[in-house]
Amino acid sequence: MALSKKALQSVKGMHDILPKDQPLWEKLRKVTRELGEQYNFERIDTPIVEPMALFERTVGEASDIVEKQMYVLKTKDDDSLVLRPEATASVARAYVEHGMAHVPQPVKLYYFGPLYRHEQPQEGRVRQFHQAGFEIIGGESDPVYDAQIVAMAYRFLEEMKVAKLEIRINSIGCKQCRPIYRKKLVDYYKSRPSCKTCKRRILVNPLRVLDCKEKECEVTKAGAPAMIDSLCTLCRGHFKLVLEYLDELGLSYMLDNHLVRGLDYYSRTVFEIFAEGWDAALAGGGRYDYLLELMGAKATPAVGCAVGLERVGVALTKQGTAVTAKPKPRVHFIHIGDLAKKKSLSLIEALRRGGVHVEESLGKDSLKGQLAAADKNGAELALIFGQMEAFEESIIIRDLKTGAQETVLLVKFVEAVKKRL
Ligand code: HAM
Repeated sequence: MALSKKALQSVKGMHDILPKDQPLWEKLRKVTRELGEQYNFERIDTPIVEPMALFERTVGEASDIVEKQMYVLKTKDDDSLVLRPEATASVARAYVEHGMAHVPQPVKLYYFGPLYRHEQPQEGRVRQFHQAGFEIIGGESDPVYDAQIVAMAYRFLEEMKVAKLEIRINSIGCKQCRPIYRKKLVDYYKSRPSCKTCKRRILVNPLRVLDCKEKECEVTKAGAPAMIDSLCTLCRGHFKLVLEYLDELGLSYMLDNHLVRGLDYYSRTVFEIFAEGWDAALAGGGRYDYLLELMGAKATPAVGCAVGLERVGVALTKQGTAVTAKPKPRVHFIHIGDLAKKKSLSLIEALRRGGVHVEESLGKDSLKGQLAAADKNGAELALIFGQMEAFEESIIIRDLKTGAQETVLLVKFVEAVKKRL
């Protein structure tokens, strides 16, 4: 019996990365690796599956991710595992598990991989998505690292040639000043109109009301007190220095009072980067000085960011600068007759070892069929190897545009082909 139509489609919100998309993904991998190396980060890969408790504690029980978006797996041993919805908590777990606190601090780690969130798919929002992330864990809670992380995320997007970038930044304070601000916000919202979701949020996760996009909350949100006015002296000083470092780097930014981010583990600096004209963040991050403590480890300052890679692709397409494959010089190998066919494989091998990108249609024996394949592939050169050439240990190199051709000896044919490319 044939499979149902549904079983023959990828799962909703999860997509194949097809050969035509691979040049983009190759570039994303390259930029991730190169930036990681330039900024002295080391690569880390953590499992895609983690214990559910890891995210409940760190990302926050009242966050959208934990409340609604996790893919939960029940194992036969009755363990509750999840497909990781984000990677910062995983990297922090690995830092603790492998005793990285005992090597010189801070530890700088980068990653590239898939994440899973059960969200409503829309443009730039999918259920399996990929991030390139950079985390600085340990050392001092120094604003210089916050600025460096913002600069790296920005650089990543610049290297990918996304234009018209906009950095939005805010500080959400610390254990001392945030509760005071939270109270101010709750008091303010109590007596003002807001949507159903915000009425609930103000009780369970008040800062998230600032994230609301509903029309009925617009006026209330616009007049809400700003966190920046409630920062304690230390947080204010920290934020001021972050901004001064960004000024020093020549990076412009927009202070965004409403930027709180959806994950609970942040403290002080939070930021997102957008491309003009599209209201979906391409990258986001911030400081998370309490995350390791939340996991039960020693309090450890940390800051990091992640770039949403599908969104980079969408932004490039919107801007008309999608990454495409560079056309390779095309060489098509054509054989005529059994003896020639037999010797063809080793000649093709010699070309490949010599660095020549060669295509063939060894499965076809007719000259017509092979020439048609060469034409279809847009080949510039044809290497024609027939019975006579096989005996004489030579090969014909034909320029398919001009029709000019030359016979060269096999002993130097690889060099002769290279010269013509
Ligand atoms: P996040 O803001 O949840 O932060 O995700 C970072 C980026 O991943 C977003 O700016 C967006 O580009 C992309 N992204 C998130 N959800 C989706 C989705 N459903 N579909 C497509 N792209 C998506 C974090 O995950 C933090 N762990 C970042 C971080 C690292 N903070 C500190 N270190």
